[in-house]
Amino acid sequence: MTNTRAAITGIHAYVPDYVLTNAELEKMVDTNDEWIATRTGIRERRILKGEGLATSYLGEQAVKGLLEKTGTDPEEIGLLICATVTPDMMFPDTANLIAHRTGMKNAFTFDLSAACSGFLFALTTGAKYIESGMYKKVIVVGADKMSSIMDYTDRATCILFGDGGGAVLLEPSTDGNGIMDSILHSDGAGAENLYQRGGGSLRPATHETVDAKEHFAFQNGRPVYKAAVAGMSGVVKEMMQKHSLTAENVAWVVPHQANLRIIESVASMADFPMEKVMVNIHKYGNTTAATLPLCLWEWENQLKKGDNLILTAFGGGYTWGAIWVKWAY
Ligand code: UT7
Repeated sequence: MTNTRAAITGIHAYVPDYVLTNAELEKMVDTNDEWIATRTGIRERRILKGEGLATSYLGEQAVKGLLEKTGTDPEEIGLLICATVTPDMMFPDTANLIAHRTGMKNAFTFDLSAACSGFLFALTTGAKYIESGMYKKVIVVGADKMSSIMDYTDRATCILFGDGGGAVLLEPSTDGNGIMDSILHSDGAGAENLYQRGGGSLRPATHETVDAKEHFAFQNGRPVYKAAVAGMSGVVKEMMQKHSLTAENVAWVVPHQANLRIIESVASMADFPMEKVMVNIHKYGNTTAATLPLCLWEWENQLKKGDNLILTAFGGGYTWGAIWVKWAY
């Protein structure tokens, strides 16, 4: 066992300028602001518009800002992981495109696909490369252009998602702060409730797959809702019991932003007051792999060295988990 932990030493994020409001969605599908706000907590979400702008652009903007604010030379980065379910292309990996455009000549890169838990899975993976001593600087990106796989005639799903990207820098720490523990889960039985069927090797693109709308994300909301509450509350409580964490000694819960009612249920089941729970779903909706870094970015100025944070997410797969972080700066 090593005493070296991976610490988050910088955070930056990016959301596109275009704001898609509930009022605008009312003109596109049979919905209304009151339904969306009361059932989900979402008021608006950001959409990336512009020819040639894809998920790599969201990640690139976040990474550029991160390198600048931490004064990091891109050539020092050994590894860049991008968590996403909306890669620019099937290959090359989006992480590779981001690294190229940000001058990371010495990094190896890969994408990680774990839907809304992508950032948790990628953060844990990146941390292992630091803890092992293999690299001194690793960047973990969570970015998704969810608007690229939305069916804007499916009112049950299109109102939920938005576009965004965030990135953290990981470096070795020996002062007791950093990524302390991860509990991660996958259950392929959930594949039937949340998926994008078309475009892979199972259903390559054909006229038929396009006509059947198989290149859009599909969600069966009710079962996913129940599984999300059970999955996140269970894993948060397990993490707290395992490390004697309490609502008093944890500064913040950082939950995936899929539905305000899910967040409130998870907080209540783990006995956390909502004042200690990061919530920005009203502004951004569900940005899939970007929700957690978008929260950390917005709360960065309120975080103090040594603060206990519990990050948690649930998503397609199913995938879910929790990470205990001691904030390092
Ligand atoms: O991030 C990945 C993981 N995803 C999640 O965690 C999301 C989990 N699921 C959810 O958040 C919720 O299930 C939804 C927000 C997707 C849906 O909320 P719900 O309270 O479960 O509603 P529902 O699907 O049971 O639908 C209730 C009613 C239906 O009408 P009837 O059958 O009762 O007449 C729907 O047709 O609401 C209707 N409905 C809408 N009405 C207005 C569904 N979508 C809309 C809409 N506007 N956009």
